[in-house]
Amino acid sequence: MAWRIRQMTARDVPEVASIEAASFGDPWTAGMLREELTQDMSWHVVASESHSGVAGYLIGRTYPDEWHLLNLAVAPGERGRGLGGVLLDDFLDAADDSCAPVILEVRPRNREAAGLYAGRGFETIGIRPQYYSDTLEDALVMEYSPGTGRSAKGLVGPVLAIETSCDDSSAAVLTAKGEVLSNVVHSQDAIHERYGGVVPEVASRAHVERLTAVVSEALRQASCDIGDLGAVAATVGPGLIGALLVGVQTAKAIAWSHRLPFIPVNHVHGHLAAVWLADPEAPFPMVTLVASGGHTSLVRVDDRRTFTLLGQTLDDAAGEAFDKGARLLGLGYPGGRELDELAETGDPGAFSFPIGLQRSPSLDFSFSGVKTSLYYLLRDMTEGERKERAADVAASYREAIVSALVGKTLRAAKQAGAKTVAVAGGVAANSLLRRRLLAEEGEAGLHVVVPPFAYCTDNAAMIGAAALSASVVQYPGYLALDASASLALGQWSVPGAG
Ligand code: KG4
Ligand code: ZN
Repeated sequence: MAWRIRQMTARDVPEVASIEAASFGDPWTAGMLREELTQDMSWHVVASESHSGVAGYLIGRTYPDEWHLLNLAVAPGERGRGLGGVLLDDFLDAADDSCAPVILEVRPRNREAAGLYAGRGFETIGIRPQYYSDTLEDALVMEYSPGTGRSAKGLVGPVLAIETSCDDSSAAVLTAKGEVLSNVVHSQDAIHERYGGVVPEVASRAHVERLTAVVSEALRQASCDIGDLGAVAATVGPGLIGALLVGVQTAKAIAWSHRLPFIPVNHVHGHLAAVWLADPEAPFPMVTLVASGGHTSLVRVDDRRTFTLLGQTLDDAAGEAFDKGARLLGLGYPGGRELDELAETGDPGAFSFPIGLQRSPSLDFSFSGVKTSLYYLLRDMTEGERKERAADVAASYREAIVSALVGKTLRAAKQAGAKTVAVAGGVAANSLLRRRLLAEEGEAGLHVVVPPFAYCTDNAAMIGAAALSASVVQYPGYLALDASASLALGQWSVPGAG
Protein backbone atom coordinates (compact mmCIF):
# COMPACT_ATOMS: atom_id res chain seq x y z
CA MET A 1 0.00 0.00 0.00
CA ALA A 2 1.23 3.50 -0.70
CA TRP A 3 1.84 5.99 2.10
CA ARG A 4 -0.91 8.53 2.41
CA ILE A 5 -0.04 11.95 3.76
CA ARG A 6 -2.80 14.02 5.35
CA GLN A 7 -3.27 16.88 7.82
CA MET A 8 -2.60 16.03 11.47
CA THR A 9 -5.70 16.47 13.63
CA ALA A 10 -6.26 16.49 17.39
CA ARG A 11 -7.26 12.84 17.14
CA ASP A 12 -3.75 11.91 15.96
CA VAL A 13 -2.07 13.61 18.92
CA PRO A 14 -1.84 10.57 21.27
CA GLU A 15 -0.17 8.44 18.58
CA VAL A 16 2.12 11.26 17.49
CA ALA A 17 3.11 11.91 21.11
CA SER A 18 4.08 8.29 21.58
CA ILE A 19 6.25 8.31 18.44
CA GLU A 20 7.82 11.56 19.72
CA ALA A 21 8.62 9.88 23.02
CA ALA A 22 10.15 6.89 21.21
CA SER A 23 12.24 9.12 18.92
CA PHE A 24 13.64 12.09 20.83
CA GLY A 25 15.44 12.77 24.11
CA ASP A 26 13.39 15.95 24.60
CA PRO A 27 10.03 14.99 23.09
CA TRP A 28 7.10 17.32 22.62
CA THR A 29 4.23 16.55 24.97
CA ALA A 30 0.65 15.97 23.81
CA GLY A 31 -0.17 19.47 25.10
CA MET A 32 2.58 21.05 23.00
CA LEU A 33 1.38 19.14 19.95
CA ARG A 34 -2.22 20.26 20.44
CA GLU A 35 -1.00 23.85 20.82
CA GLU A 36 1.00 23.54 17.58
CA LEU A 37 -2.12 22.54 15.64
CA THR A 38 -3.65 25.93 16.39
CA GLN A 39 -0.61 28.01 15.33
CA ASP A 40 -0.57 30.25 12.29
CA MET A 41 1.69 29.07 9.48
CA SER A 42 2.04 25.63 11.03
CA TRP A 43 2.61 22.68 8.67
CA HIS A 44 1.56 19.44 10.35
CA VAL A 45 0.98 16.21 8.46
CA VAL A 46 0.90 12.53 9.31
CA ALA A 47 1.55 9.55 7.03
CA SER A 48 -0.24 6.26 7.27
CA GLU A 49 -1.07 3.25 5.16
CA SER A 50 -4.78 2.75 4.61
CA HIS A 51 -6.56 1.25 7.63
CA SER A 52 -3.53 1.61 9.87
CA GLY A 53 -2.36 4.13 12.43
CA VAL A 54 0.13 6.98 12.21
CA ALA A 55 3.44 5.71 10.82
CA GLY A 56 5.25 9.06 10.79
CA TYR A 57 4.74 12.79 10.82
CA LEU A 58 6.32 16.09 9.99
CA ILE A 59 5.81 19.42 11.73
CA GLY A 60 7.14 22.67 10.34
CA ARG A 61 6.45 26.36 10.08
CA THR A 62 5.95 28.15 6.77
CA TYR A 63 7.06 31.69 7.60
CA PRO A 64 6.91 34.06 4.62
CA ASP A 65 10.60 34.18 3.77
CA GLU A 66 11.93 31.05 5.46
CA TRP A 67 10.42 27.70 6.38
CA HIS A 68 11.42 25.78 9.53
CA LEU A 69 11.38 22.02 9.82
CA LEU A 70 10.66 21.35 13.50
CA ASN A 71 9.95 17.64 13.91
CA LEU A 72 10.18 14.67 11.60
CA ALA A 73 9.83 11.17 13.05
CA VAL A 74 8.86 7.67 12.01
CA ALA A 75 7.35 5.02 14.32
CA PRO A 76 10.00 2.47 15.37
CA GLY A 77 8.25 -0.43 13.58
CA GLU A 78 8.02 1.51 10.29
CA ARG A 79 11.64 2.63 10.00
CA GLY A 80 13.82 1.57 7.10
CA ARG A 81 11.06 1.84 4.49
CA GLY A 82 11.88 5.30 3.27
CA LEU A 83 9.00 7.09 4.97
CA GLY A 84 11.21 9.84 6.43
CA GLY A 85 12.27 10.70 2.89
CA VAL A 86 8.68 10.65 1.65
CA LEU A 87 7.52 13.11 4.34
CA LEU A 88 10.56 15.30 3.77
CA ASP A 89 10.09 15.33 -0.02
CA ASP A 90 6.47 16.34 0.44
CA PHE A 91 7.55 19.33 2.57
CA LEU A 92 10.46 20.27 0.29
CA ASP A 93 8.28 20.03 -2.84
CA ALA A 94 6.02 22.67 -1.28
CA ALA A 95 9.04 24.78 -0.26
CA ASP A 96 10.34 24.53 -3.84
CA ASP A 97 6.97 25.73 -5.13
CA SER A 98 7.03 28.69 -2.69
CA CYS A 99 10.73 29.40 -3.38
CA ALA A 100 11.32 29.29 0.38
CA PRO A 101 14.58 28.15 1.98
CA VAL A 102 14.19 25.59 4.78
CA ILE A 103 16.11 25.68 8.08
CA LEU A 104 16.39 22.92 10.68
CA GLU A 105 18.43 21.87 13.69
CA VAL A 106 19.77 18.35 14.11
CA ARG A 107 21.93 16.61 16.70
CA PRO A 108 25.42 16.05 15.27
CA ARG A 109 25.39 12.52 16.73
CA ASN A 110 22.22 11.69 14.80
CA ARG A 111 24.16 10.77 11.68
CA GLU A 112 21.18 9.04 10.10
CA ALA A 113 19.06 12.17 10.20
CA ALA A 114 21.94 14.40 9.09
CA GLY A 115 22.51 11.98 6.19
CA LEU A 116 18.85 12.12 5.20
CA TYR A 117 18.97 15.92 5.11
CA ALA A 118 22.33 16.04 3.32
CA GLY A 119 20.88 13.63 0.78
CA ARG A 120 18.12 16.14 0.00
CA GLY A 121 20.61 18.97 -0.50
CA PHE A 122 20.71 20.50 3.01
CA GLU A 123 24.01 22.09 3.93
CA THR A 124 25.38 22.75 7.41
CA ILE A 125 25.49 26.51 7.94
CA GLY A 126 26.31 26.78 11.65
CA ILE A 127 26.06 25.52 15.21
CA ARG A 128 23.73 26.43 18.05
CA PRO A 129 25.72 25.84 21.24
CA GLN A 130 24.12 23.75 24.00
CA TYR A 131 20.83 23.72 22.15
CA TYR A 132 19.34 20.50 23.51
CA SER A 133 17.94 20.76 27.03
CA ASP A 134 18.38 17.07 27.91
CA THR A 135 22.10 16.70 27.10
CA LEU A 136 23.19 20.32 26.46
CA GLU A 137 24.55 19.15 23.11
CA ASP A 138 25.17 21.65 20.33
CA ALA A 139 22.81 21.57 17.35
CA LEU A 140 23.91 21.60 13.73
CA VAL A 141 21.94 24.16 11.76
CA MET A 142 21.21 23.00 8.23
CA GLU A 143 19.74 24.94 5.35
CA TYR A 144 18.04 23.86 2.14
CA SER A 145 17.87 26.23 -0.81
CA PRO A 146 14.75 25.77 -2.90
CA GLY A 147 15.21 23.97 -6.21
CA THR A 148 18.67 22.57 -5.47
CA GLY A 149 18.00 19.47 -7.55
CA ARG A 150 17.23 17.27 -4.54
CA SER A 151 15.51 14.58 -6.52
CA ALA A 152 16.55 13.09 -9.83
CA LYS A 153 13.82 15.27 -11.36
CA GLY A 154 16.22 18.20 -11.18
CA LEU A 155 19.27 16.39 -12.58
CA VAL A 156 21.24 18.18 -15.23
CA GLY A 157 23.36 15.87 -17.35
CA PRO A 158 23.20 12.12 -17.81
CA VAL A 159 23.42 9.37 -15.20
CA LEU A 160 26.06 6.65 -15.23
CA ALA A 161 24.57 3.49 -13.69
CA ILE A 162 26.49 0.44 -12.49
CA GLU A 163 25.14 -3.05 -11.73
CA THR A 164 27.23 -5.83 -10.12
CA SER A 165 24.82 -7.57 -7.76
CA CYS A 166 25.39 -11.09 -9.09
CA ASP A 167 27.31 -12.40 -12.09
CA ASP A 168 26.90 -9.65 -14.69
CA SER A 169 29.18 -6.59 -14.74
CA SER A 170 27.17 -3.84 -16.37
CA ALA A 171 27.32 -0.08 -16.91
CA ALA A 172 24.88 2.19 -18.72
CA VAL A 173 24.43 5.87 -19.46
CA LEU A 174 20.94 7.39 -19.50
CA THR A 175 19.93 10.97 -20.17
CA ALA A 176 18.15 12.77 -17.31
CA LYS A 177 14.92 12.14 -19.24
CA GLY A 178 15.50 8.38 -19.23
CA GLU A 179 16.76 7.74 -22.74
CA VAL A 180 19.32 4.91 -22.82
CA LEU A 181 22.54 6.09 -24.50
CA SER A 182 24.47 2.88 -23.79
CA ASN A 183 24.02 -0.39 -21.89
CA VAL A 184 27.10 -2.61 -21.74
CA VAL A 185 26.86 -6.04 -20.08
CA HIS A 186 29.72 -8.43 -19.47
CA SER A 187 28.28 -11.82 -18.51
CA GLN A 188 30.28 -14.19 -16.29
CA ASP A 189 28.35 -17.28 -17.43
CA ALA A 190 31.43 -18.77 -19.05
CA ILE A 191 33.37 -18.37 -15.78
CA HIS A 192 30.75 -20.04 -13.52
CA GLU A 193 29.73 -22.74 -15.98
CA ARG A 194 32.29 -25.25 -14.77
CA TYR A 195 30.97 -24.99 -11.18
CA GLY A 196 27.30 -25.31 -12.23
CA GLY A 197 26.40 -22.16 -10.28
CA VAL A 198 27.64 -18.68 -9.31
CA VAL A 199 30.64 -18.81 -6.95
CA PRO A 200 30.47 -15.53 -4.99
CA GLU A 201 34.20 -14.97 -4.50
CA VAL A 202 34.92 -15.76 -8.15
CA ALA A 203 32.15 -13.34 -9.17
CA SER A 204 33.61 -10.50 -7.04
CA ARG A 205 37.07 -10.99 -8.55
CA ALA A 206 35.70 -11.06 -12.08
CA HIS A 207 33.85 -7.78 -11.40
CA VAL A 208 37.08 -6.19 -10.17
CA GLU A 209 38.87 -7.30 -13.34
CA ARG A 210 36.20 -6.20 -15.81
CA LEU A 211 34.26 -3.29 -14.37
CA THR A 212 36.63 -0.47 -15.32
CA ALA A 213 36.60 -1.56 -18.96
CA VAL A 214 32.82 -1.99 -18.92
CA VAL A 215 32.35 1.54 -17.51
CA SER A 216 34.77 3.04 -20.05
CA GLU A 217 32.96 1.29 -22.88
CA ALA A 218 29.54 2.53 -21.67
CA LEU A 219 30.86 6.11 -21.54
CA ARG A 220 32.49 5.74 -24.97
CA GLN A 221 29.33 4.38 -26.61
CA ALA A 222 27.34 7.26 -25.07
CA SER A 223 29.96 9.79 -26.31
CA CYS A 224 30.14 11.03 -22.76
CA ASP A 225 32.99 12.07 -20.42
CA ILE A 226 32.79 11.68 -16.66
CA GLY A 227 32.82 15.47 -16.53
CA ASP A 228 29.52 15.60 -18.47
CA LEU A 229 27.65 13.42 -15.96
CA GLY A 230 24.93 14.71 -13.64
CA ALA A 231 25.08 11.77 -11.19
CA VAL A 232 26.40 8.24 -10.68
CA ALA A 233 24.07 5.41 -9.62
CA ALA A 234 24.78 1.86 -8.47
CA THR A 235 22.95 -1.19 -7.20
CA VAL A 236 23.51 -1.21 -3.42
CA GLY A 237 21.54 -4.45 -2.71
CA PRO A 238 20.15 -7.02 -2.48
CA GLY A 239 22.73 -9.40 -3.92
CA LEU A 240 26.11 -11.00 -3.26
CA ILE A 241 27.85 -8.66 -0.86
CA GLY A 242 31.33 -8.95 -2.38
CA ALA A 243 29.97 -8.40 -5.88
CA LEU A 244 27.83 -5.42 -4.79
CA LEU A 245 30.80 -3.79 -3.05
CA VAL A 246 32.80 -3.67 -6.28
CA GLY A 247 30.06 -1.69 -8.04
CA VAL A 248 29.26 0.57 -5.09
CA GLN A 249 32.90 1.49 -4.45
CA THR A 250 33.57 2.09 -8.14
CA ALA A 251 30.49 4.32 -8.43
CA LYS A 252 31.32 6.22 -5.25
CA ALA A 253 34.91 6.76 -6.38
CA ILE A 254 33.77 8.15 -9.75
CA ALA A 255 31.18 10.37 -8.05
CA TRP A 256 33.67 11.54 -5.43
CA SER A 257 36.32 12.39 -8.01
CA HIS A 258 33.98 14.94 -9.63
CA ARG A 259 31.91 15.84 -6.54
CA LEU A 260 28.88 14.36 -8.29
CA PRO A 261 25.75 13.20 -6.47
CA PHE A 262 25.32 9.45 -5.94
CA ILE A 263 22.05 7.53 -6.35
CA PRO A 264 21.78 4.24 -4.45
CA VAL A 265 19.44 1.77 -6.17
CA ASN A 266 17.69 -1.36 -4.92
CA HIS A 267 18.25 -4.14 -7.48
CA VAL A 268 14.60 -5.23 -7.46
CA HIS A 269 13.48 -1.63 -8.07
CA GLY A 270 15.75 -1.86 -11.13
CA HIS A 271 13.91 -4.94 -12.44
CA LEU A 272 10.61 -3.11 -11.86
CA ALA A 273 11.92 -0.03 -13.69
CA ALA A 274 12.66 -2.16 -16.79
CA VAL A 275 8.89 -1.96 -17.36
CA TRP A 276 8.78 1.83 -17.82
CA LEU A 277 12.08 1.78 -19.63
CA ALA A 278 10.29 -0.41 -22.21
CA ASP A 279 6.96 1.43 -22.04
CA PRO A 280 7.10 4.86 -20.36
CA GLU A 281 3.34 5.34 -20.77
CA ALA A 282 2.22 2.07 -19.11
CA PRO A 283 -0.53 3.08 -16.67
CA PHE A 284 -0.44 2.56 -12.88
CA PRO A 285 -1.24 0.71 -10.76
CA MET A 286 0.71 -2.18 -12.26
CA VAL A 287 1.43 -5.66 -11.02
CA THR A 288 4.87 -6.89 -12.02
CA LEU A 289 6.24 -10.40 -11.80
CA VAL A 290 9.99 -10.30 -11.16
CA ALA A 291 11.31 -13.75 -12.02
CA SER A 292 15.01 -14.49 -12.34
CA GLY A 293 17.62 -16.93 -11.11
CA GLY A 294 17.58 -15.17 -7.75
CA HIS A 295 14.06 -13.77 -7.27
CA THR A 296 10.44 -14.62 -7.85
CA SER A 297 8.22 -11.85 -6.53
CA LEU A 298 4.88 -10.33 -7.37
CA VAL A 299 4.90 -6.60 -6.76
CA ARG A 300 2.22 -3.98 -6.89
CA VAL A 301 3.64 -0.74 -8.28
CA ASP A 302 1.54 2.37 -7.58
CA ASP A 303 3.99 4.86 -9.04
CA ARG A 304 7.68 4.89 -9.90
CA ARG A 305 8.74 4.78 -6.25
CA THR A 306 5.91 3.02 -4.41
CA PHE A 307 6.15 -0.77 -4.29
CA THR A 308 4.26 -3.41 -2.30
CA LEU A 309 5.28 -7.06 -2.14
CA LEU A 310 2.21 -9.21 -2.84
CA GLY A 311 3.83 -12.64 -2.91
CA GLN A 312 7.16 -14.38 -3.39
CA THR A 313 8.74 -17.79 -3.62
CA LEU A 314 9.08 -19.60 -0.34
CA ASP A 315 11.97 -21.73 -1.62
CA ASP A 316 13.58 -21.87 -5.11
CA ALA A 317 13.32 -19.01 -7.60
CA ALA A 318 11.59 -19.75 -10.93
CA GLY A 319 14.88 -19.36 -12.83
CA GLU A 320 16.51 -21.77 -10.41
CA ALA A 321 13.75 -24.31 -11.15
CA PHE A 322 14.43 -23.91 -14.88
CA ASP A 323 18.20 -24.18 -14.38
CA LYS A 324 17.98 -27.25 -12.13
CA GLY A 325 15.58 -28.86 -14.61
CA ALA A 326 17.98 -28.12 -17.46
CA ARG A 327 20.80 -29.67 -15.50
CA LEU A 328 18.82 -32.88 -14.87
CA LEU A 329 18.05 -33.01 -18.59
CA GLY A 330 21.74 -32.57 -19.41
CA LEU A 331 21.27 -29.18 -21.12
CA GLY A 332 23.74 -26.27 -20.87
CA TYR A 333 24.37 -23.64 -18.18
CA PRO A 334 22.52 -21.73 -16.81
CA GLY A 335 20.03 -23.75 -18.87
CA GLY A 336 16.74 -21.85 -18.75
CA ARG A 337 17.03 -20.79 -22.37
CA GLU A 338 18.04 -24.25 -23.60
CA LEU A 339 15.15 -25.89 -21.76
CA ASP A 340 12.81 -23.31 -23.26
CA GLU A 341 14.06 -24.06 -26.79
CA LEU A 342 13.72 -27.82 -26.34
CA ALA A 343 10.22 -27.38 -24.87
CA GLU A 344 9.07 -25.64 -28.05
CA THR A 345 9.33 -28.98 -29.86
CA GLY A 346 7.57 -31.15 -27.21
CA ASP A 347 4.07 -31.96 -25.96
CA PRO A 348 3.22 -29.95 -22.81
CA GLY A 349 0.45 -32.42 -21.87
CA ALA A 350 2.71 -35.50 -21.93
CA PHE A 351 3.50 -35.50 -18.20
CA SER A 352 2.02 -33.78 -15.23
CA PHE A 353 4.21 -32.01 -12.70
CA PRO A 354 2.68 -30.95 -9.40
CA ILE A 355 3.42 -27.37 -8.36
CA GLY A 356 3.39 -26.28 -4.71
CA LEU A 357 0.86 -23.70 -3.42
CA GLN A 358 -0.99 -23.89 -6.74
CA ARG A 359 -4.40 -24.06 -5.11
CA SER A 360 -3.52 -21.89 -2.14
CA PRO A 361 -5.21 -18.47 -1.99
CA SER A 362 -1.86 -16.86 -1.14
CA LEU A 363 0.19 -15.21 -3.89
CA ASP A 364 3.36 -17.01 -2.79
CA PHE A 365 5.12 -19.60 -4.94
CA SER A 366 6.98 -22.84 -4.28
CA PHE A 367 9.22 -24.44 -6.89
CA SER A 368 11.34 -26.86 -4.89
CA GLY A 369 8.93 -29.79 -5.38
CA VAL A 370 8.74 -29.63 -9.15
CA LYS A 371 12.42 -30.37 -9.74
CA THR A 372 12.20 -33.32 -7.32
CA SER A 373 9.34 -34.77 -9.40
CA LEU A 374 11.46 -34.29 -12.50
CA TYR A 375 14.34 -36.09 -10.82
CA TYR A 376 12.15 -39.14 -10.02
CA LEU A 377 10.56 -39.16 -13.48
CA LEU A 378 13.96 -39.22 -15.19
CA ARG A 379 15.41 -41.71 -12.71
CA ASP A 380 12.67 -44.21 -13.58
CA MET A 381 13.21 -43.90 -17.35
CA THR A 382 15.66 -45.90 -19.42
CA GLU A 383 18.47 -44.10 -21.17
CA GLY A 384 16.62 -44.50 -24.49
CA GLU A 385 13.34 -43.12 -23.09
CA ARG A 386 15.14 -40.16 -21.58
CA LYS A 387 16.54 -39.25 -25.00
CA GLU A 388 13.34 -39.90 -26.89
CA ARG A 389 11.01 -38.09 -24.49
CA ALA A 390 13.35 -35.19 -23.58
CA ALA A 391 11.34 -32.59 -25.52
CA ASP A 392 8.02 -33.78 -24.01
CA VAL A 393 9.53 -33.72 -20.51
CA ALA A 394 10.90 -30.21 -21.04
CA ALA A 395 7.58 -28.97 -22.45
CA SER A 396 5.56 -30.42 -19.55
CA TYR A 397 7.99 -29.10 -16.96
CA ARG A 398 7.93 -25.62 -18.50
CA GLU A 399 4.14 -25.76 -18.71
CA ALA A 400 3.89 -26.42 -14.96
CA ILE A 401 6.19 -23.55 -13.96
CA VAL A 402 4.73 -21.03 -16.41
CA SER A 403 1.13 -21.89 -15.48
CA ALA A 404 1.93 -21.23 -11.82
CA LEU A 405 3.61 -17.90 -12.63
CA VAL A 406 0.92 -16.66 -15.01
CA GLY A 407 -2.00 -17.88 -12.86
CA LYS A 408 -0.87 -15.99 -9.78
CA THR A 409 0.22 -12.92 -11.71
CA LEU A 410 -3.22 -12.54 -13.28
CA ARG A 411 -4.95 -13.23 -9.98
CA ALA A 412 -2.79 -10.57 -8.28
CA ALA A 413 -3.54 -8.09 -11.07
CA LYS A 414 -7.25 -8.67 -10.64
CA GLN A 415 -7.13 -8.32 -6.85
CA ALA A 416 -5.06 -5.13 -7.10
CA GLY A 417 -7.25 -3.60 -9.80
CA ALA A 418 -4.12 -3.24 -11.93
CA LYS A 419 -4.23 -1.40 -15.25
CA THR A 420 -0.92 -2.91 -16.36
CA VAL A 421 0.54 -6.34 -15.85
CA ALA A 422 4.23 -6.83 -16.56
CA VAL A 423 7.08 -9.27 -16.19
CA ALA A 424 10.78 -8.64 -15.63
CA GLY A 425 13.90 -10.64 -14.72
CA GLY A 426 15.72 -13.27 -16.79
CA VAL A 427 12.77 -15.68 -16.83
CA ALA A 428 10.77 -13.04 -18.73
CA ALA A 429 12.76 -14.31 -21.73
CA ASN A 430 10.77 -17.54 -21.59
CA SER A 431 8.80 -17.83 -24.81
CA LEU A 432 5.75 -19.55 -23.31
CA LEU A 433 5.55 -17.01 -20.46
CA ARG A 434 5.73 -14.14 -22.92
CA ARG A 435 3.04 -15.65 -25.17
CA ARG A 436 0.69 -16.39 -22.27
CA LEU A 437 0.98 -12.89 -20.83
CA LEU A 438 0.77 -11.09 -24.17
CA ALA A 439 -2.41 -13.04 -24.91
CA GLU A 440 -4.00 -11.13 -22.00
CA GLU A 441 -3.46 -7.72 -23.65
CA GLY A 442 -6.80 -5.95 -23.81
CA GLU A 443 -8.58 -8.58 -21.62
CA ALA A 444 -10.66 -6.63 -19.09
CA GLY A 445 -8.84 -3.47 -20.18
CA LEU A 446 -5.47 -4.84 -19.09
CA HIS A 447 -2.27 -3.50 -20.66
CA VAL A 448 0.62 -6.01 -20.83
CA VAL A 449 4.32 -5.08 -20.88
CA VAL A 450 7.00 -7.65 -21.63
CA PRO A 451 10.27 -5.67 -21.88
CA PRO A 452 12.91 -6.58 -24.48
CA PHE A 453 15.24 -9.33 -23.33
CA ALA A 454 18.20 -6.95 -22.81
CA TYR A 455 16.23 -5.11 -20.10
CA CYS A 456 15.00 -8.33 -18.44
CA THR A 457 18.27 -10.03 -17.51
CA ASP A 458 20.51 -8.12 -15.12
CA ASN A 459 21.64 -4.87 -16.75
CA ALA A 460 22.60 -1.35 -15.73
CA ALA A 461 20.06 0.46 -17.94
CA MET A 462 17.25 -0.68 -15.63
CA ILE A 463 19.30 0.51 -12.62
CA GLY A 464 19.64 3.92 -14.29
CA ALA A 465 15.89 4.00 -14.95
CA ALA A 466 15.19 3.25 -11.27
CA ALA A 467 17.77 5.87 -10.22
CA LEU A 468 15.87 8.57 -12.09
CA SER A 469 12.99 8.22 -9.65
CA ALA A 470 15.06 7.46 -6.53
CA SER A 471 16.60 9.75 -3.90
CA VAL A 472 19.78 11.55 -4.76
CA VAL A 473 22.56 11.74 -2.15
CA GLN A 474 24.77 14.80 -2.56
CA TYR A 475 28.53 14.80 -2.00
CA PRO A 476 29.78 14.04 0.67
CA GLY A 477 26.65 12.43 2.17
CA TYR A 478 27.32 9.12 0.43
CA LEU A 479 30.87 8.54 1.56
CA ALA A 480 29.67 6.41 4.49
CA LEU A 481 27.06 4.60 2.42
CA ASP A 482 27.54 0.86 2.10
CA ALA A 483 26.21 -2.09 0.11
CA SER A 484 23.65 -4.33 1.77
CA ALA A 485 23.14 -8.01 0.84
CA SER A 486 19.55 -8.13 2.04
CA LEU A 487 17.70 -4.91 1.23
CA ALA A 488 13.93 -5.43 1.33
CA LEU A 489 11.60 -4.12 -1.34
CA GLY A 490 10.94 -0.44 -0.68
CA GLN A 491 14.33 0.11 0.97
CA TRP A 492 16.96 2.02 -0.92
CA SER A 493 19.59 2.38 1.72
CA VAL A 494 19.96 6.15 1.78
CA PRO A 495 21.74 6.78 5.08
CA GLY A 496 18.93 7.50 7.51
CA ALA A 497 16.01 7.31 5.07
CA GLY A 498 13.19 6.71 7.52
O1 KG4 B 1 17.85 -11.77 -14.25
P1 KG4 B 1 18.92 -12.77 -14.56
O2 KG4 B 1 19.84 -12.46 -15.69
O3 KG4 B 1 19.87 -13.00 -13.35
C1 KG4 B 1 19.45 -13.17 -12.03
O4 KG4 B 1 19.26 -12.14 -11.32
O5 KG4 B 1 19.27 -14.33 -11.68
O6 KG4 B 1 18.17 -14.14 -14.78
C2 KG4 B 1 18.83 -15.32 -15.17
C3 KG4 B 1 17.85 -16.47 -15.09
C4 KG4 B 1 18.52 -17.81 -15.19
O7 KG4 B 1 17.96 -18.65 -14.22
C5 KG4 B 1 18.15 -18.26 -16.60
O8 KG4 B 1 18.14 -19.65 -16.78
C6 KG4 B 1 16.78 -17.70 -16.74
O9 KG4 B 1 16.89 -16.39 -16.17
N1 KG4 B 1 16.36 -17.66 -18.15
C7 KG4 B 1 15.31 -18.34 -18.63
C8 KG4 B 1 15.26 -18.09 -20.02
N2 KG4 B 1 16.29 -17.27 -20.34
C9 KG4 B 1 16.96 -17.01 -19.17
N3 KG4 B 1 14.41 -19.11 -18.00
C10 KG4 B 1 13.44 -19.65 -18.76
N4 KG4 B 1 13.34 -19.47 -20.08
C11 KG4 B 1 14.21 -18.71 -20.76
N5 KG4 B 1 14.10 -18.52 -22.08
ZN1 ZN C 1 18.29 -9.62 -11.11
